[in-house]
Amino acid sequence: MANEFPYAERFGVHRVLPERPTSHEEILAELTAMAQAEDAAWEDGSCSGTMYCGDHEHYDFMTQAFGKFGHVNVLQRDICPSATVFEGEIVAMALSLFHPEAITGSTPAGSVTSGGSESIVSALLAYRDQARAERGIERPNFVKPLSAHPAFDKGGHLFGIEVRDAPIDPETTGADVDAMADLIDDDTIAIVGSAGNYGYGTIDPMADLSELAVDRGIGMHVDGCLGGFILPFGEMLGYEPIPPFDFRLPGVTTISADTHKYGYGFKGTSTLLFRDESLRRCLYFFKTDWNGGKYMSPGIAGSRSGGLLAATWSSMVHLGREGYLERARRVFETSFAMQDAVRSHPELRILGRPTFCFAFTSDKLDIYHVNDFMKGRGWRFNGLQYPDALHMAVTGPQTQPGVADRFAADLAEAIPYAREHAGEPPHTGAIYGGAPGGATPEVDGFIKDVMAGLLDTMQSVPPE
Ligand SMILES: Cc1ncc(COP(=O)(O)O)c(C=O)c1O
Repeated sequence: MANEFPYAERFGVHRVLPERPTSHEEILAELTAMAQAEDAAWEDGSCSGTMYCGDHEHYDFMTQAFGKFGHVNVLQRDICPSATVFEGEIVAMALSLFHPEAITGSTPAGSVTSGGSESIVSALLAYRDQARAERGIERPNFVKPLSAHPAFDKGGHLFGIEVRDAPIDPETTGADVDAMADLIDDDTIAIVGSAGNYGYGTIDPMADLSELAVDRGIGMHVDGCLGGFILPFGEMLGYEPIPPFDFRLPGVTTISADTHKYGYGFKGTSTLLFRDESLRRCLYFFKTDWNGGKYMSPGIAGSRSGGLLAATWSSMVHLGREGYLERARRVFETSFAMQDAVRSHPELRILGRPTFCFAFTSDKLDIYHVNDFMKGRGWRFNGLQYPDALHMAVTGPQTQPGVADRFAADLAEAIPYAREHAGEPPHTGAIYGGAPGGATPEVDGFIKDVMAGLLDTMQSVPPE
């Protein structure tokens, strides 16, 4: 159940600002207790995705980098030229993974955003504005396979773009390119393919999608939010199947790749990369007649912290190609070992041909009974639907010795459990992010309760 007051018993609740200052020591002791309790949930490798790096030494190093620039607002670039170094080099290093040498006749560009969703909605905004300016499109639409992330629907919602969902191929879990082609019309601004998609970790048929985009004269976004910082290294290491999904394909016009996932940076950064700087320019915003002065921002955000740029840059420079290759090797090997464990049970079926991240279902059992049992053993998978399935994005914590073996042993016990409980309603279900309701209703509930308390107090104070 969602809990609006998760630490109330141990630390009380701040309903208003405390009257007097609280000491650094007291606050840090409280934060340490919370962080230690919460880190314990993933440190043993039981949690899918989320903590991509999982290495406290790396986190401590990035905390130092963050600390030097956390207070800096990179919108005020004249007093923080370092931000230009960090941002420019993050973009250049990210671009270098996606074969920019294949780009001819245009200059690539990029920006650093606050996360995968901002990269995706920014791409949609840029495509919309370019299509309006160059093709006179007033009622834009965007075509995606059903498996593409809801951030595309969010972008459509925010910017008045109709988002059209095409079915996916149930066998491969990849986009059905013919179905996407049928949805494209004169008002289509762009399409998307994922590398890989969130649900199954599989890669859409990118070469076919690229051909489709070129043929119809529209943009193509590659959602590499999840896979952008691991698949290129997987390809270098020879793992399969990782077909080209980047600027080697002529139709690919933008790529999102999250530094806060397999880039191993702190939460709060992603990259959005452009084949052609002219599309990137669509994201600049100008208000030149404001009494606060001529205003310009390079993207959706206004003020941004230099700390996140510094930490992300530090992560990339520290790990280098070798560091990413080694971490990728461990993730792929662990994922393939876990997939073997799934395949050893005829009751279970892996969806498509995944690599670092995989999903499995069952045609014989309720997969959520399997999940119920695994949850009891501490595992936290992500639940999928249509079909019901469990998703595991293998990350640093799973690569520790013994984790894949523990997964195999627990899974072997989960099968008889699921058989025994057939016909009963399972306790778990297909909810993104693990907790029913998610964060917003909890915070809303908290505020509602606090406000009710405040109003009671005010009403009980006699008028002077
Ligand atoms: C494929 C894919 N795209 C986009 C996103 C959205 O990223 P974020 O949660 O950083 O906004 C995710 C998140 O998991 C993802 O897996």
